[in-house]
Amino acid sequence: MNTQLMTAAFFLSCLVSAAATEDKVLADFENGSYAPWTVTGEAFGAGPASGPLPGQMNVEGFQGKGLVNSFYAGDDSTGLLVSPAFKIERSFISFLIGGGRSDRLALQLLVDGRVVRSATGPNDKQGGSETLAPESWEVGEFAGMMATLRIVDEATGGWGHINVDHIVQTDVKPKGFVNDMARTFTATSRYLHIPVKNGAAKRVVTLLVDGQRVVRNDIELADAAPDWWAPMDVSAWKGQSLTLRVDRLREDSAALSSIEQSDVLKEADSLYREPLRGQFHFSPQRGWNNDPNGCVFYNGEYHLFFQHNPYGWGWGNMHWGHAVSKDLVHWEELGDKLLPDDMGPMFSGSAVVDWKNTSGFGKDGQPPLVLFYTAAGNPATQCLAYSTDGRTFTKYHANPVVKEITGGNRDPKVIWHEPTQQWVMVLYVEWQQRHTVHFFTSPNLKDWQLASISDGDKTGGRYLYECPDFFELPVDGDATRKKWVLLGADSQYATGSFDGKSFLPDAVRLPGHRGRGFYAAQSFSDVPDGRRLFIGWWQTETKGMPFNQSMTVPLELKLAQTTDGPRLTFMPVKELEALRTKSHRFDPMTLAPGDKNPLGAIGAELVEVRVEFEPHKAKEIALKIRGITVDYDVAKQELIVAGHRAAAPLRDGKQRLVIYCDRTGVEVFASDGLCYVPMPFLVKPDERSVSFETRGGAAHVTALEVHELRSAWTRP
Ligand code: FRU
Repeated sequence: MNTQLMTAAFFLSCLVSAAATEDKVLADFENGSYAPWTVTGEAFGAGPASGPLPGQMNVEGFQGKGLVNSFYAGDDSTGLLVSPAFKIERSFISFLIGGGRSDRLALQLLVDGRVVRSATGPNDKQGGSETLAPESWEVGEFAGMMATLRIVDEATGGWGHINVDHIVQTDVKPKGFVNDMARTFTATSRYLHIPVKNGAAKRVVTLLVDGQRVVRNDIELADAAPDWWAPMDVSAWKGQSLTLRVDRLREDSAALSSIEQSDVLKEADSLYREPLRGQFHFSPQRGWNNDPNGCVFYNGEYHLFFQHNPYGWGWGNMHWGHAVSKDLVHWEELGDKLLPDDMGPMFSGSAVVDWKNTSGFGKDGQPPLVLFYTAAGNPATQCLAYSTDGRTFTKYHANPVVKEITGGNRDPKVIWHEPTQQWVMVLYVEWQQRHTVHFFTSPNLKDWQLASISDGDKTGGRYLYECPDFFELPVDGDATRKKWVLLGADSQYATGSFDGKSFLPDAVRLPGHRGRGFYAAQSFSDVPDGRRLFIGWWQTETKGMPFNQSMTVPLELKLAQTTDGPRLTFMPVKELEALRTKSHRFDPMTLAPGDKNPLGAIGAELVEVRVEFEPHKAKEIALKIRGITVDYDVAKQELIVAGHRAAAPLRDGKQRLVIYCDRTGVEVFASDGLCYVPMPFLVKPDERSVSFETRGGAAHVTALEVHELRSAWTRP
């Protein structure tokens, strides 16, 4: 061969081998239709999905816009997808797969009509994740042969669906996975820092101490750079040998090797100063919170426990986080107190002080603090834990104290009923296709008897969903006119009477809060001055932060007589006045349209505004706080917070507004608390102005104060 020819042949062979190593996409489900695949049954729908289907958790980890998702018409539908025949031309077939784990759910490779490779999803129990993960098959032995792919959904019931995307023939060996990868540490410090990547596949991470499983969590482990580090408190095992075991990891994952130990949080310097950290609303240092739990005053401190996922930005791994405060303003987070155990994750519940030591858990004359929680395993049961120092808690050895009634029964709230000298537990139970509250009684917190069942509503309404609360309040402060209040997680409630066994509602359900993102609030037990204090989960989403969600400001509940009957009022606690740094107080004024903005000189990040006015000729009273509009529509007697309307009647011809603005939203109180509008929001950091005007006519402003506030976070 001459040189020219040799060069040409060389280039040709390079081209051929380049072509041979290029990936071949077998299916990416991007063109809106399954064609040329054939589809039978209902499960796969008419074409590829573009994400989650109705009723499904968020589906992530697929490529592009489309994927195969057999959740069409729910888990019970079945079906089959079959590819056209193709030639196996590469050494590997890689794909993304998610959904349920079952021999009835599969992506299969068929050669000569035989299934030669098969893969299924990762989930076989409640919870789990809809994230697709990469997998592959080595198929070199079938080179040159014709094959087909099948996606099978013959499964019904929980996790009866499969998700598949991006099926590719490749010669690049895909990274493999290792099962039960583990790393052993000697615990020298308080924390192991676990790397978390939001949205990554959830791995089962087990902590073993001396070979014994201590705790198990589902964690979105970061294989490489994490979004944030979740501290795992291992101080209980200092000096001992700990093993962290992960069910499945990519062979090149740095998840385990990157874990370090130290006594302080990673990025501790920015703790509580993060850009989206509510500055006077409680939020956990790290991870997710939902419901407030175990709200109680004990030994000179308010205790706030909370549904906590220490290892995720989203819901999961329910622990009871714990914080204390002496003044309801400054909270100190103390770490998780109830960890998931063999009976299940630690769902919501409450706390009481057992003053008379009816339980026998007291010590040296110190009455015990007793926590009630749902162990949300299968069965789901009601359990207790106790403490005599408010710091360390012991789970009762004879748990559960209430057996499962129906699956999903949960959220025990316990109170002392003085007239009958017994304990009362209200428990949410889905029972005979109804949402009910079961009332139990007990002499000693350990032995419980069913006393009655209530819908909480004369019409048998279905509002009483989850997290019931139950307490008695005087009407307009008159101790001779008391009413019981039964409310559910959305704060809708009924007033009524209670004889120690049965609740008799006065009327149909009544609306609670009038805003958004307020849920599962709980009242505090044993408050020394007898106030009914209340705090809610405030659904403030803080993307990009190592924490997510928060609590509202502490509220005080009262019953006020109205022309329609006694109604709940929600007001911020007076303790919040301690946050004021600079106060601007104005003389009464008549404010006409076109007048100069009386608040024009004020600029502040954290603000409290209090205004009282008689509308007089005004049609609209308009406040704007850091870009958020708070308008009062006089004709309709409605408050409009950032476009969201809520009934807010004038009271004796006047309207009184109280507005708190934090980095994560506003809480507006109108009509002396009859109208409470919490609104989660990410407030623009640079917008610091406050304005006040009237439209359509002048209003008499009888009181006006603006307070600049400081952060409540004193750093540990
Ligand atoms: C309400 C709720 C409760 C449950 C808890 C679990 O938000 O669903 O019913 O106990 O959250 O985190």
